[in-house]
Amino acid sequence: MQKPTVTLTAEQIVFFRREGYLVIPAVTTPEEAGHLRDIYDRLFELRAGRGAGDQFDLAGTDEEDKPATLPQILDPVKYAPELAEALYRANAQAIATQLLGPEAEYMGEHAIFKPPRVGAETPWHQDEAYWEPDLDHNSLSVWMPLQEATLENGCMQFIPGSHKLDVLPHHNIGHDPRIHGLEVDSVDTSKAVACPIQAGGATIHHCRTLHYAGPNRSDIPRRAYILLFKLPPMKRAVTRDFYWRKNEAEQAREKRRQAAQAA
Ligand code: NI
Repeated sequence: MQKPTVTLTAEQIVFFRREGYLVIPAVTTPEEAGHLRDIYDRLFELRAGRGAGDQFDLAGTDEEDKPATLPQILDPVKYAPELAEALYRANAQAIATQLLGPEAEYMGEHAIFKPPRVGAETPWHQDEAYWEPDLDHNSLSVWMPLQEATLENGCMQFIPGSHKLDVLPHHNIGHDPRIHGLEVDSVDTSKAVACPIQAGGATIHHCRTLHYAGPNRSDIPRRAYILLFKLPPMKRAVTRDFYWRKNEAEQAREKRRQAAQAA
C-alpha cells in the first residue's frame, strides 16, 4: 500500500458527520487517474467478470443480446490486481479512518460505467438497502470519477442530512423484478445538492445517505470507481424486512453467479 497524501481538516470531518457527504477536490494525481482510466476501459471492453456474475446491467434486465445501459463490475481488483497498488486506495483508506475511526476497514469496490448518450440514471437510493437486513451498517463509499463528472454526464447528487434516516422502503428500478438496481419509493429532492468534480476528485457518502446520478447526456463515457469502507457491522435486535431484495435469485446476474460456482 502506498503512503496516503490526503488528510481531512476538522471542518471536513464535521461537515461529513452533519451532512452525510463530502466533496474532495483530489484523491489521486491526474497521472494515476489516467492510468486507472486505461485499466477501467480495458475491464469493460473485455466484459471482465460477466460469466461470474460480477459484471451486469444495474439498470436493465441484463440479457446477453441487449447492450447494458448501466454496466457495473463488482470487485474490479479481482480482474486487475494492479488496482490494489493505487494511491487512490491508500487515500480512500486514510479518509475512511478519519471519518469512521481507526477500526475502519476495506469492505469492497465497484465500477459503474455510463456509456455516452445511453448511460441510464442511477435512481435515488440508500446503499444499505442492498445489504443484510439483520445488521446495522456504519460505512461509507468513496466515489471517484475518471473524467470530469458534470450534471450533463451524471455527477453525484445527495440529500443533505439523509444519513440520519432509517433505511427507507425501496423497489427494483421500474418495479421490474429482473432489474438488480434499487430505487427509493419516495424522496423530496428540493434540497438535493449536485456535486460536479474533476477527474481524480471524489465524493464521499455514508451508507444511508440518499444519492443519485443522472443519465449521461454527453458524448464521453462517465466512469466512476468506488471503494467502500466499514466499521464492523452490529447485529440488530430485530431483523428488518427488506422485501425488495427477495427477487435477487431470479435476476440474470445471480443465475450466472450460481452457474459459475457450480461449474
Ligand atoms: Ni449507491
